[in-house]
Amino acid sequence: MVDRDLAALDDPVGQSLLGHHAPLARRYGRALGYLPDVATFAAVPADPDAAAPEATDATVWADLARLLGPGELADLFSSPATPPPDWEPVFELAGRQMIWPGTGRPAPAATGADVVELGADSVPEMLDLVERTRPGPFWKRTVELGTYLGIRHEGTLVAMAGERLRPPGWTEISAVCTAPEARGRGHAARLVGALAARVLARGERPFLHVAEANTAAIALYEGLGFKTRAAVTFRGFRVP
Ligand SMILES: CC(C)(COP(=O)(O)OP(=O)(O)OC[C@H]1O[C@@H](n2cnc3c(N)ncnc32)[C@H](O)[C@@H]1OP(=O)(O)O)[C@@H](O)C(=O)NCCC(=O)NCCS
Repeated sequence: MVDRDLAALDDPVGQSLLGHHAPLARRYGRALGYLPDVATFAAVPADPDAAAPEATDATVWADLARLLGPGELADLFSSPATPPPDWEPVFELAGRQMIWPGTGRPAPAATGADVVELGADSVPEMLDLVERTRPGPFWKRTVELGTYLGIRHEGTLVAMAGERLRPPGWTEISAVCTAPEARGRGHAARLVGALAARVLARGERPFLHVAEANTAAIALYEGLGFKTRAAVTFRGFRVP
């Protein structure tokens, strides 16, 4: 794999918004963000002349402030870009980015017949499951970012996972969650395996993000064959 492919993973939000997710993007100047209810993630370009990855041209922050509006959340996802001092920190969370080790490596685990595709009409029950399991951010229109798969037990949605960020050559697997009463039955492993198979079949590689403290999820992903590529910090700021 050439560096060019891996470099897209250093700015997964910006690279998605400029490419595959352009129809779901809003833009002001050089600042980019997802449409409301799709995702809160925003991106600013790094200063190409600066040595440090967090260096960002000051005018870009004015663009982002105009795009989002005063008092709104600027969710910078994993970007190391540092806003001006009057942008109040809202959250900071240590995490890691994990990647599938190669295009030639087969996808993990068979999918199983009970894996179903979830569409817009499933959003209320997906939001319920997210509320109960807290896999990470998920909003009313997040399903528009990619394919979401689920497993039902006696008609009730008990597990799901889906595709989120799409930087060139990659698809992020996200919203992986299983209801507490349905855990330990291999549901998450089968859903992540099914999504990874879809991603690999179209010539891309799966990747994902996980909070450093989430040892159960890290064990799940490592067990399936994902490798840690980078430590990341998720950060959000309040627009002044
Ligand atoms: C993490 C989570 C999705 C696992 O769901 P699950 O359906 O119970 O997982 P599976 O049964 O498919 O487990 C597959 C493998 O993951 C690992 N694993 C899952 N839960 C684990 C735990 N609590 N501790 C350690 N390893 C665990 C094991 O290696 C397991 O394989 P094994 O059963 O052969 O030991 C579930 O605990 C959950 O919904 N957590 C809250 C939401 C969340 O954190 N999502 C991840 C966001 S990145």
